[in-house]
Amino acid sequence: MNAAIRAVARCSIAQGWEVYGVHQGYAGLIDGDFRPMTARSVGGILQLGGTILGSARSPEFKTEEGRLKALWELRQKEIDAVVVIGGNGSQTGAHALSQMGFPVVGVASTIDNDLLGSDITIGVDTALNIALEAIDRLKTTASSHQRAFLVEVMGRNCGYLALMAGIAGGAEAILIPEIETEPEQVVQIFRNAYERGKTHACAVVAEGAKYNAQKLADYFQVHRAHIGFELRTSTLGYVQRGGAPTAYDRLLASRLGAGAVAALTRNETGVLVGMIQSRIVTTPLDKVVGALKPIDPDLFELAKVLDT
Ligand code: F6P
Repeated sequence: MNAAIRAVARCSIAQGWEVYGVHQGYAGLIDGDFRPMTARSVGGILQLGGTILGSARSPEFKTEEGRLKALWELRQKEIDAVVVIGGNGSQTGAHALSQMGFPVVGVASTIDNDLLGSDITIGVDTALNIALEAIDRLKTTASSHQRAFLVEVMGRNCGYLALMAGIAGGAEAILIPEIETEPEQVVQIFRNAYERGKTHACAVVAEGAKYNAQKLADYFQVHRAHIGFELRTSTLGYVQRGGAPTAYDRLLASRLGAGAVAALTRNETGVLVGMIQSRIVTTPLDKVVGALKPIDPDLFELAKVLDT
């Protein structure tokens, strides 16, 4: 997100605009926590994970009273437009603000990659690489000790991270919310891998799958004998959201941040800036909000062929 913040700030300054950073997301918008930004204040942040502005889930902004307070703060401080960098929750807030008549532009940023309006969102590549590194490391133990691993990755209700990490990490099974897999199928996949002489097996499980890693582990506890391998579970959790962003993420964030300012120069608001087929495009927020981007079922089929 920092590369996007930097791009928004510097591209706006290049337009001759004054820029303020809203601290702690919508909570800061309600509290009027706006601090001036300069080209220098966004220096040295490209390589930092997270956001220098801070972020917060704000239940208050979900109420009309909270949103009216935010609007009052924006008007009182003579702000002309807001750029909202974030995922589904943030863009739902952006849409609400836009519906109240305030000019808003969203920037697609979430590790879940569930936002319609962008093929890929800021943070996905970094999170994917972190998950992949963990899977590669877990495979070392798995191979040496002839174990099967259940690796749970984040992604909320979207299986994108799990699917991609599973393909790139050579998983024997991938469990995602979009395509139901029963635990017996995973037992069978592990058993087959064992009988084919594999020294390890790995299932990448999306946290939002019907059977997450814990539920699967509970099931396997009872049916352990049929798997062949000894079983271990690893939930990657928040480590996926930290660390230095990859080159891909920095470039994407820089382009999307610049795209948000370009949209503002065209007076195009109430939209999300994303990347579709390598081009920076805008999609109306009312098409984005409430919709879930589907995963590509062909990739799921490919994963099955590749794990033989
Ligand atoms: O939306 C990003 C995400 O990391 C999801 O993958 C995860 O389910 C969720 O946020 C965790 O949210 P919180 O930080 O509120 O625990």
